[in-house]
Amino acid sequence: MLIETKGLKKTFKSRGKEVEAVRGVDLAVKEGEVFGLLGPNGAGKTTTMRMLSTLIEPTEGHAVVCGHDLAKESANVRRDIGYVGQEGGTWGEVTAREELVMQGRLYGMSKRRAQQRALEVLAAFQLEDYADRTVKTYSGGQKRRLDIALGIMHEPKLLFLDEPTTGLDPQSRAHMWDEVRALRDRGTAIFITTHYLDEADALCDRLAIIDHGEIVAEGTPLDLKKAVAGDVVAIGVAAQSAEAVELLGAKDFVREIESGEPDPATGVALLRMYVDDGAAALPELLRALDAQDISPASIELHRPSLDDVFLKQTGRSLREEH
Ligand SMILES: Nc1ncnc2c1ncn2[C@@H]1O[C@H](COP(=O)(O)OP(=O)(O)OP(=O)(O)O)[C@@H](O)[C@H]1O
Ligand SMILES: [Mg+2]
Repeated sequence: MLIETKGLKKTFKSRGKEVEAVRGVDLAVKEGEVFGLLGPNGAGKTTTMRMLSTLIEPTEGHAVVCGHDLAKESANVRRDIGYVGQEGGTWGEVTAREELVMQGRLYGMSKRRAQQRALEVLAAFQLEDYADRTVKTYSGGQKRRLDIALGIMHEPKLLFLDEPTTGLDPQSRAHMWDEVRALRDRGTAIFITTHYLDEADALCDRLAIIDHGEIVAEGTPLDLKKAVAGDVVAIGVAAQSAEAVELLGAKDFVREIESGEPDPATGVALLRMYVDDGAAALPELLRALDAQDISPASIELHRPSLDDVFLKQTGRSLREEH
């Protein structure tokens, strides 16, 4: 294991108030995998990552990172990891090449070695064309690539990436995913935070879903979705939603049904049910509603997504929060 945590906790005190940002997290990250921490704003992703990368001290709990005790051997942890923060940290008045060489020197490389390594990472992140331009002239995507290039300059075993694709256009995001996968294929383990469902699904070998400082689910994207089981049918009804819930919930092939709050503008409430075979269930569900003169405002049928996993664990949708 590259990371193992036990009861990791962080409580902030600000202006006499206590904020329990992370409430006892147990995580395990294996060598060579992309591990994701998925959760909404304020869930505790950055705080967890900052603890694991020695930037802040846990209030409670233990962790071993790259074989070193987080509390007792933090200098060793720091040497073995790279960290790319959510905000990015490039200066503007220097060029990418200068910044990379500086970073290498900071980690004890000779000037020659740092220059050589800078060439490698500039190539890996397709930054060669802008290498000698000042960073302030870079686009958002180019800056983000440079942030990550800085993070891997010293060839860490483990790279922490805090929301590396937030604010990027779809094409730059896709490039970033390719770059993360390429890093993994060259043997670097990656711990990434995101609030994008599709990103967690596409990029992560395994992930943990965090909400209000607690892990609510953990596994491969596929296993997590399988655990939701079956297909999801969502039917919107404008009135009689309680009646519809009772009616549809009584069907033996409906494993679970829940009703969302009615939309204040349209009055439509979304009924979500988990069924084994959505395509077969749908006609029967509609007939049952029709028999009671309840006409659906909308119908959806889909395979479970990570949002369904989140919804099932928390009763809220991640999608709605963004
Ligand atoms: N230094 C601090 N002092 C007080 N509260 C803090 C501090 N840092 C974080 N918090 C609080 O801890 C909680 C978790 O914050 P954190 O930054 O870890 O969330 P996050 O999951 O990274 O969110 P986002 O998706 O918005 O980046 C939030 O309620 C935040 O306001
Ligand atoms: Mg954050």
